[in-house]
Amino acid sequence: MTQMTLVFLNKLRGTKHSARMRSFADGSLKGIVFYMKNAQIKRTLLEALARAGKILLSNFGKEQKITKKDVFNLVTEIDKASEKAIVGLILQRFPGHSILAEESAAIAGSGCRWIIDPIDGTTNFAHGFPIVSVSIGFERDGRLEMGGVLDPFRKELFFAERGKGAVLNGRRIHVSGTKTLEDSLLATGFPYDRHKNPDDYLAMLRVFLTRIQGIRRGGSAAIDLCYVACGRFDGYYEMKLSPWDKAAGMMIVEEAGGKLTDFAGSPLRLAGAQNLATNGLIHREMLKALEPFKGLG
Ligand code: IPD
Ligand code: CA
Ligand code: CA
Repeated sequence: MTQMTLVFLNKLRGTKHSARMRSFADGSLKGIVFYMKNAQIKRTLLEALARAGKILLSNFGKEQKITKKDVFNLVTEIDKASEKAIVGLILQRFPGHSILAEESAAIAGSGCRWIIDPIDGTTNFAHGFPIVSVSIGFERDGRLEMGGVLDPFRKELFFAERGKGAVLNGRRIHVSGTKTLEDSLLATGFPYDRHKNPDDYLAMLRVFLTRIQGIRRGGSAAIDLCYVACGRFDGYYEMKLSPWDKAAGMMIVEEAGGKLTDFAGSPLRLAGAQNLATNGLIHREMLKALEPFKGLG
């Protein structure tokens, strides 16, 4: 056992981690390596969020060079700068890891994959509307393990690690206790292809509009998911999110006790087109309302 390992073990003694480490069947070494790696990953994820958040704050409201990926899908130079800072830090610390980031080509080859949205809410950012976040998820062998979403404008940092709960600025969060759709506040969003096929999105909105307390379209899917996680929203649905919009938020909702499925009730997939996140209690009612749309792709 190295000196570093001993120091690490001593640090863990008496914490909730020491019990889990002892449960590693093949002795503690594998457990130690696992916990050390996870701690490094968490540190890097939080540092990357903080660096990106600073970039967003210092450039907000300034004139931006904006290009269009599609008629309504914008990308600013700050999306690129934020992504460069995040990916640069991750690859400096973990050179072999895979990356899936919105504004650049994917890097594959490792079971450890970082899923990054450098600005979630680019349309808001470009218009000076301060509902914007940075979202970073971490996946090991196809399973989400960690997620962090930073809203730099409200100084709110949402974070979750599998099996350890979800927190907002370090304090434990949980989904709401609202039991009926009638008492619910929901969130939604409209995908960038809405001009090609507005009817289904409008029909979905219509289904809920007459049956709930209110529905909000904030413009950052990652924030919508985090607000479900901390009980500000009771439910959220949206079609056609990309993996970087939802990876971190999914981990946070799951660890906050929420439920994530597609419109047919199957577990939500990163690559799936239909996205439903609720407090669990109103899930059945929402699924029933979304029944006519469960075939949409
Ligand atoms: C968008 C936002 C928005 C959602 C869109 C996303 P972007 O991400 O999350 O709320 O409605 O579907 O694409 O383009 O700002 O990163
Ligand atoms: Ca996004
Ligand atoms: Ca984005």
